[in-house]
Amino acid sequence: MKRILAIVFCLLTLHSLAQTAEGDVENLSSMESGLPVVLQEIAIIPEPVTLIKQTGHFILPTNIVILANKSPELKQTVAFLQQRLTIPTGHFVSVIHTPSPIATFKLIINDKIDPILGSEGYHLTVGLKQVIITANKPAGLFYGVQTLMQLLPKEIESKEEVKGIKWAIPCVQVTDYPRLGWRGLMFDVARHFFTKQEVKQYIDAMVRYKYNILHLHLTDDEGWRIEIKGLPRLTEVGAWRVNRVGSFGDFIPPTADEPRNYGGFYTQEDIKELVAYAKERFVNIMPEIDVPGHSLAAIAAYPDLSCSSEAVNYKVRSGEKIMDWSRGAPPLGLVDNTLCPANEKVYIFLDTVFSQLAKLFPFEYIHVGGDEVARNFWEKNDQIKELMKREGLKTIPEVQAYFEKRVEQIVVAKGKKFMAWDEVLEGGVSQNAAVMSWRSMKYGTEAAKAGHEVVMSPTQYAYIDYMQADAITEPRVYASLRLSKAYEFDPIPADVDPKFIKGGQANLWTEQVYNIRQAEYMTWPRGFAIAESVWSPKEKKNWTTFFARTEQHFKRLDIAETKYAPSVYDPIFTVKRGADRQLQVTLSTEVEGLDIYYSFDHSFPDRFYPKYTTPLIPPIDATVLKVITYRGKTPIGRMMNMPIEELNKRAGKK
Ligand code: ACM
Repeated sequence: MKRILAIVFCLLTLHSLAQTAEGDVENLSSMESGLPVVLQEIAIIPEPVTLIKQTGHFILPTNIVILANKSPELKQTVAFLQQRLTIPTGHFVSVIHTPSPIATFKLIINDKIDPILGSEGYHLTVGLKQVIITANKPAGLFYGVQTLMQLLPKEIESKEEVKGIKWAIPCVQVTDYPRLGWRGLMFDVARHFFTKQEVKQYIDAMVRYKYNILHLHLTDDEGWRIEIKGLPRLTEVGAWRVNRVGSFGDFIPPTADEPRNYGGFYTQEDIKELVAYAKERFVNIMPEIDVPGHSLAAIAAYPDLSCSSEAVNYKVRSGEKIMDWSRGAPPLGLVDNTLCPANEKVYIFLDTVFSQLAKLFPFEYIHVGGDEVARNFWEKNDQIKELMKREGLKTIPEVQAYFEKRVEQIVVAKGKKFMAWDEVLEGGVSQNAAVMSWRSMKYGTEAAKAGHEVVMSPTQYAYIDYMQADAITEPRVYASLRLSKAYEFDPIPADVDPKFIKGGQANLWTEQVYNIRQAEYMTWPRGFAIAESVWSPKEKKNWTTFFARTEQHFKRLDIAETKYAPSVYDPIFTVKRGADRQLQVTLSTEVEGLDIYYSFDHSFPDRFYPKYTTPLIPPIDATVLKVITYRGKTPIGRMMNMPIEELNKRAGKK
């Protein structure tokens, strides 16, 4: 028996050493607290600049003492650490402010600036008896604490006490700081309204991955979400629409008697609370007021803001068709959802809005939209024609440029910097305008070369409203962005002076996102990929290790009860027609090591069904191809039901 145990022990040790060499897995082989051997994986997202593993573990004592100075800027970090340790462990966690040998966690602001760390970096040392985080600034300590949390067993994410866990932290030395200063997530609270509590929940999730900007898209055709004193109809009328579910964008136009009671808005007190909540977590909130397009909610409230006389009949959009994209960009507006650049009342309105915004949001930028402005109503409008004559404007993009310049003057007069979507480059925009590049990396590259500050948030890597896998399983959106593609995001183009690239951002538009659980599903895990792309050194990025870490974080999100998409496990269907025009279906997976099982007979495949090896030719009478992925003996993907008709459609004419 002893011999067998010795062999098992040797095998276990060899196994763990092999894993340590290959990836971030360490063997926690001691029986220090009498609890069984566990393998503690190190899986930090975003990947730190350097992490050196050392032998041994720090075991959380039952009396945890945090040492930190009393600065108000550290208060939230200390409270966060205290709360995160207390709840799942059930241990007693106290805070002291003067040095003492009993301190187990030390959070220290450097007396002497460590130039390598900048304002958000940190050093984290986990020793056998003590954990020390040092940083130049409070933000660095906050990020050090986030890394520390990820070194603890996943049960640290629990909202309740978890018994029977050995709370061990592997001994490490971490030096870490961000690649970019702007690490953003955009949350569209206009298409669907999300409550103050839900926005806080979103902030709580994003800071774990070291995001520091929350861009709130506060206004659009479907809702105006912020109280503006003196303009009460913006929220009395503009914040409410008819409630519909289904495929947003194709809803039947509402009738006059349908109740407009779906929506909501943030009072100015709510905004102050959110800004303070975010600030305590080192997040700046950037407000966006999207003008001159996407402005139907404002126009429904104040029709005078439009150049079109029909505006008196306009209502806040409830998800019915509003634009015609069949001819590409710019779209044709089916209603005139633009503010009128030829109307002085518009600039007075914007002055009121931006002066209140400037007071509410301490962040240095205000985002003013500028995207997807339909031109068809302006082209025909007499007021616009007069404006063009008076100002010598030759084209409609020049009309928008005139508008943007006036808006920039207002924003700058309020002491803020102007930021807008990349379309504003078309008609020309002032050198000081910052550009958020969404249509592709190209526009941001051009803007940076022209000396504009740029934030990269291109559709091809960073649009997290897009589907994450096949439309057959995902809630339908017009485009897809898989996790592996999001992970390719590099916000700094090779041929651009990096000093103009402020950072990168993922954008969550919410036309098809009806609730906070779906917002989480859309954000994670792609939010991990973007976080790593904006924080970690480019040379440290590695899809294989990233995905291994992502899987560890899935377990953490499960315990934290944060929703995420398992779409990465779903197979990819590729179709073509053979020489005889026969349909051929190729199945592949985004990640390695998965097997795909399938059926054509309507029954649910499992691992005893045929395993996919070569392209499939559907049997003549088959109507559905069902597939599922396994890792070894464990089903891991979702059961996908693919109609053969759909595959035929994708393959083109027979
Ligand atoms: C955008 O996606 N229209 C900025």
